[in-house]
Amino acid sequence: MDLPGGLITALKNADKVLVLTGAGMSAESGVPTFRDAQTGLWAKYRPEDLATPEAFARNPQTVWDWYEDRRKKVREVRPHAGHSALVEMEQHFSSFLLVTQNVDSLHQQAGSSDVVELHGNIMRSICSLTGKAIDADWISAHPGRPPASPHHARGLARPGVVWFGEALPEHVMKRALAAASSCDVCFSIGTSSLVQPAASLPFAALSAGAVIVEINPVPTSLSAAAQFSLQATAADALTAILAGLSRCR
Ligand code: APR
Repeated sequence: MDLPGGLITALKNADKVLVLTGAGMSAESGVPTFRDAQTGLWAKYRPEDLATPEAFARNPQTVWDWYEDRRKKVREVRPHAGHSALVEMEQHFSSFLLVTQNVDSLHQQAGSSDVVELHGNIMRSICSLTGKAIDADWISAHPGRPPASPHHARGLARPGVVWFGEALPEHVMKRALAAASSCDVCFSIGTSSLVQPAASLPFAALSAGAVIVEINPVPTSLSAAAQFSLQATAADALTAILAGLSRCR
């Protein structure tokens, strides 16, 4: 694909890069985006109605089963060329932080060295009452849907992800915000820019003077503010950017 004029020059002049990714980053690997229509058994639910502490309190089995279905899909997918391009891009900058809203570990599988998971990880489980980690062996040895928690008599295992209405781990958001306020370039890739506080990161970077590069086939609330808004898929845009960088350095 053709890149907008000035983009590679802006990247060549950058030392510190922050990358924020969302569900669209995983779409080309085959993980449905969060706001895609649900299919099959789940078509009658909205994700926003399942990914909440209230939904889990009301009906833990439905929520657990939905996450089991998502875990099954995630186990079957592999990173795509866009994930690999982000790994290679690390070499081109003195500081490169990848912050993701995705819970599927695809960046880590691709080989990204430093990934901040804003919304946790779907493969992990935690106690619904204490928040303590529950290891995978316990989950497979206890057949409940969800299994009981080993940490509290009334606790249940729940997915180790951040639900709507829950706060992000403080250290995680602090690190992401520090990177946003000091980066030269901030990429926003495959996110609808609707969910806070993640959506505020590129705006924080913009206020601090960073160049914003958005990659999304569909315009978002960030598009008008971004210096470079690439209406393309993550794989196409990132492979083109990596090729441009490799030619120039
Ligand atoms: N490449 C780049 N972007 C894409 C692609 C693609 N191949 N396919 C789709 N997109 C874009 C869509 O246009 C949309 O703007 O990805 C975005 C996905 O948006 P959402 O499904 O809203 O996902 P996200 O922004 O990550 O949601 C944020 O919401 O519910 C929470 O915890 C959940 O982490 C998630 C958060």
